[in-house]
Parts: sequence; structure tokens; C-alpha cells
Amino acid sequence: MNLLLIAGLLSGSCSTRQHAQYQLDSAFIDQQLQQAVSQYKVMMDKVPDDRLPKSYRAGDDRLITSGSGSWTSGFYPGTLLLLYEFSGDASLLAEAKEKLRLLEKEQHNRGTHDLGFMLYCSFGPALALTGDTSYRSVLLTGAESLISRFDPEVGCIKSWDHNGDKWKFPVIIDNMMNLEYLSWASKESGQEKYLDIALKHANTTMKNHFRPNHSSWHVVDYDPETGAVRGKQTHQGAADESAWARGQAWGLYGYTMMYRETQEKQYLIQAQHIADFLLRHPNLPEDGIPYWDFDAPGIPDTYRDASAGAIMASALLELSRLSGGGKSGEYRKAAEKMIRSLSSEQYKAPIGENGGFLLLHGVGHLPGNSEIDVPLTYADYYYVEALSRYKKWFLAN
Ligand code: GLY
Repeated sequence: MNLLLIAGLLSGSCSTRQHAQYQLDSAFIDQQLQQAVSQYKVMMDKVPDDRLPKSYRAGDDRLITSGSGSWTSGFYPGTLLLLYEFSGDASLLAEAKEKLRLLEKEQHNRGTHDLGFMLYCSFGPALALTGDTSYRSVLLTGAESLISRFDPEVGCIKSWDHNGDKWKFPVIIDNMMNLEYLSWASKESGQEKYLDIALKHANTTMKNHFRPNHSSWHVVDYDPETGAVRGKQTHQGAADESAWARGQAWGLYGYTMMYRETQEKQYLIQAQHIADFLLRHPNLPEDGIPYWDFDAPGIPDTYRDASAGAIMASALLELSRLSGGGKSGEYRKAAEKMIRSLSSEQYKAPIGENGGFLLLHGVGHLPGNSEIDVPLTYADYYYVEALSRYKKWFLAN
């Protein structure tokens, strides 16, 4: 989520006219976005008033939904708002506003680190597109809830409140995605404390979450008394030492975004290291859409994760803009390939099918036997974000 993207402020100074080397043109991108609008109108008809979509079960044509407390609750309104920005279709905005009413109470939720996904991906674009200051107030209260989970001894925001013996202060790589919200809160409120916490979290994570080959562990558990690392494990990946695909994508997106927000070179270098690990990995398939884990057993006879592909595509477009020299073209081309693959019938459902979701073949939590090879709201969200970024950053006049 990038509110500057939503506000369109970058289009004058940084965007580039369509370039002969670019692999995707306006007609292609606009067609994908237009189809997404049509498909989300199919979904709109299916979503119960008091619920948010999460996934879809094709076998019995069943929409899987959640309440506002799910980590995924912000993606549906967020996608509607991205599509409203593209199309100007007021019915998308109206539906998003209805869902924001359900989500509003999560501003007081101090029991999760996922408030960036839940609130910033939804109320953030709503504020940017409508200027409604009640959304600003929700966001600032939510940012306060989020930083209540920061421990200065550890130098991180706690991800999960775990009651068993396994973890004391678990921090997952996904948590990098909350930091943009905190950077926004500092700019909006004039209080440095939010960005200070974001910087500490990013720096602690850079120190402890990454292996020498620049892949990341999923979970790092800390001792809150001393700040020492207690263990490094996985929760949703194939093994503690494997490279869970969506976790790598969150890290890539997170450090790219932190460089944009701070201009601190170490974050750019970190993001480039992650990108290079992913793009040069022998197990990255030719179409650019990763298996659910780069070290999954049974490759190539295992599941792809379209959500990881969509997050990577969106992140690589931004990393391309922020990187100089040959790297810029390399990252852009990799993202273009991913967007083209995701837009093909291999990954994208025909309009009217798939419960109104755009993408097929997402993997939520394979070791937990949950959401395997299914549509996912966050896969759709980052796919639409990638299309919108491409349109604004690479095709705007
Ligand atoms: N943050 C949870 C996930 O990526 O599955």
C-alpha cells in the first residue's frame, strides 16, 4: 500500500512515458483492471453484509468469509478502493465504505500485529481517495494500538500473543508490512515515535531474521527479559530452515518500502539482496510464480502460491523504480513476467467464476492443512496493486 500512489502525487515527477523496452502496454493493463472491476462486482453480490471475504471453495460454490478480526479483513475493501480509483465506479466505493464500518472497531485491537494489513490497506486508501477525516482518526488510534506491542528490550513489535511454551515473544517476517503504517502515522501526526519504532523493528529484523544467503526465517522468538533470540523457526513454511515463499515476499516488499520511506541505503541493499536470492533461485519456475516454499518437498510436483507471486511483482516494480543501473531493468522485467503469468488463464479465473476472486492457486497455510490451492483476498489485492503501480509508474503520460 502506498498512499502516494493513491494520491497520484508521483505521476508528474517520477513516472516514465511508455518505453519501448517495457513489456506491458496500457491496453493490456487497462484490460486486466477492467476485468477485475467486473469480477469484484460478482463478488460484491455474494458477500454477506456483516462479513468479509477470505477465500472460496469451488466444490460447493461456497464463499469463505471472516469477521473484522481476521488478518485478511482489510484486503477486500482495499481492493475495492484500488479498483474505484481506476474506474471511478461509485458502487465500489459504496461497498468499501460499508465494509469499513465493520472494520472500524479494530482500531482498538491490541491483540495482533496485523493492523497494517487490516487498517492501513483499507482506511489508508479510503482517506486518500475521499479526504474523510474520520478515517484519519481511525488510523491514528490504530497506530497507537499497534505500537503498544513494541518492546524496547527486544527492539520489535510482538507478532502473536502465544499462550503455550513454544514462543515467548514471536516476531514473524510478515511484520515488516506494518511499518509503512507507522511511517504514515509519524508524518500525519508529527510525532516521531511511530517511525522510531518502525526503524528499530526493521533493524532488529535485518539483524536476526536473515540467513547468509539473504533468505529469511519465518518466526524469530525473543526473550522479552533480555532481548536475546530464543529460536528461529517456521510456522507456515516447509521446515525451519526452508524459504517460505510468502515470507520472502513480505521481506522484499517491506525493505523496499522502508527505503522509499527513509532513503536509508541499507534498506535498499537488503531489498536487492532478497530480490537477487529469489530471482536467481534454481527453484523459481520459468513463469516467475513461486512454489509455496522455495524448498518445498516434491518440487516440481507441488503447489504454486499466486499470493507470493503477486506480492513479489508489486514489490519488484517499486524496487525497479528505486534501483539504478541494470538492476532496475532486471527487476521490472521479472515483475512484468509475473504480472503476465498471473493474468493468464493458468492463474486468473474467468469472469463470473471462482466466487468473484481474481486469482486461483494461492496457498495460505499448507502445514496447517488450511487454504491450499485456493483464491485468497491478499493475492487479489497485491495483484491489483501491481497493475495499478505499473499503470501509474510505467505508463502514465
Ligand atoms: N501474515 C500471514 C500470512 O502471510 O499468511
